[in-house]
Amino acid sequence: MSKILTFEEIRNNPEIQTYLEFTDKAFAVMGYKEHGQGHALRSAMTAENVLKSLGYSVREQELAKIATYIHDIGNMVSIHSHDQSSAVMFLNVIDEVLYGDEVFAVATAIGGHEDKNINPVSSIAAALVLGDKTDVRCERIRTKDMFLIDKYSLVIAACRKAEVVVNKKKLTIKLKIDIDTSFCSVSVMDYFEIFMSRMIYCKRAANVLKCNLELYINKDKFL
Ligand SMILES: [Fe+2]
Ligand SMILES: [Fe+2]
Repeated sequence: MSKILTFEEIRNNPEIQTYLEFTDKAFAVMGYKEHGQGHALRSAMTAENVLKSLGYSVREQELAKIATYIHDIGNMVSIHSHDQSSAVMFLNVIDEVLYGDEVFAVATAIGGHEDKNINPVSSIAAALVLGDKTDVRCERIRTKDMFLIDKYSLVIAACRKAEVVVNKKKLTIKLKIDIDTSFCSVSVMDYFEIFMSRMIYCKRAANVLKCNLELYINKDKFL
């Protein structure tokens, strides 16, 4: 008899918990931003909320939440090709014979989450991209000495708030970011320079969900 894959089961799976823990420990040593439970949960909630707000089925919401929660576990092995290793590690943890085809929908979404030049292949994959790429919170930066961190991390450290707002009637997905431009001379242009490909990818993902992406930085509309 087949089983239903649930978010709680994934979240409580000891192997997955260990993968997230080891990923984050390795990233902390490298001085990279937080990639453990915090990023996993925050991005998963955003992915679920995007599909919920647009009226997608409860099942699609849950599968998007599952895929997004574990999208970065492959970083435990290496940051290189971590999208693919995340998908394979998930398939090793979950028995597809027991859980059926939904496992593959999740694996496909995970495996493609860094393919910025390709449209996400499903609503689950699109929600994952939006959940992941909009998680630009300053709390994720942990290097205390600002002179030691790279420009990418500096821009994230200046992002005081990031919010995703969906309007089902207007078919818009708004990303609202507050950037502290007085912080280490970070400008709005720096944000664009660093995050342009990420924003284009979010636009692709929004389009897959038949929505337009709108980007607001410090209340000004840029996209
Ligand atoms: Fe990733
Ligand atoms: Fe991520």
